[in-house]
Amino acid sequence: MKTQWPVEDLARDARFVQVPIADVVNDPRTGGQMRGNYEQPGRLTPDDDTSPDRARQLMHGIFMGEMQALEGAGRTCFDFGDDQVPLQLKLDMARQSWDEARHVEISVKLIDHMGTDIGEFAESTFLYEAACNPDPALRLTGVNRALEGLAIDVFNTMREFGRVCTDPVLEFCEDWMLADEVTHVKMGSDWLRRLTKDDPDRLQLALEFQRTIDKLFSLGGFRSEHDDSPVSLARKFRSMAGFSEAEIEEIAQVSDEAYLDPAG
Ligand SMILES: [Fe+2]
Ligand SMILES: [Fe+2]
Repeated sequence: MKTQWPVEDLARDARFVQVPIADVVNDPRTGGQMRGNYEQPGRLTPDDDTSPDRARQLMHGIFMGEMQALEGAGRTCFDFGDDQVPLQLKLDMARQSWDEARHVEISVKLIDHMGTDIGEFAESTFLYEAACNPDPALRLTGVNRALEGLAIDVFNTMREFGRVCTDPVLEFCEDWMLADEVTHVKMGSDWLRRLTKDDPDRLQLALEFQRTIDKLFSLGGFRSEHDDSPVSLARKFRSMAGFSEAEIEEIAQVSDEAYLDPAG
């Protein structure tokens, strides 16, 4: 069986339209910013007319992220020999695949609950592209720490939107998925430290990969601690997921810079 499965070969039926991240960032309609589906700035609130559509778009993005997280964690169980990663890492990825499969099912039900359908919005393939990194340390740092760290921020924001809308289905589904994501990010933090314990250069490379992704997903002020950013930084849950205070501060700073200078 083939290892290192390329993004072009993911199994998708005719409902899905895939968009590489470079096309989103370079799209002149977004002014080179990362907002993509979320052109309208501001937090989701029940009083804002644009919130229902923005929430549907965001939920569809979450669904696609869950699919790719399942595919990425599944690949990591198989892509590396026993001499490259410990068996325990593969067992963690197998457990994560189980969680992500459940999240895909929850997300499909939630997009229906929120009034949209599979394929109504384009699929950005960035998470899976990060999951194709040939170095398992970079793969786990890029996916589990940077992108699932972003998932923590997004789920926490969406859970709050469910709460203020008095929608218990949305609130509790997001809460349950958020709890799982904290464990996935923690796995990424723990394995990054274990895999690079005797290799400071590899650790620096992995952290640099993470910084690049964190910056990309902060562009245009998409995620920051400002009230009018669509997604807020979830400090408490990041700390539970193994981020040090200095690491959280660094992401807060990158996000703040992106907010204050959206053109970057
Ligand atoms: Fe997930
Ligand atoms: Fe996850």
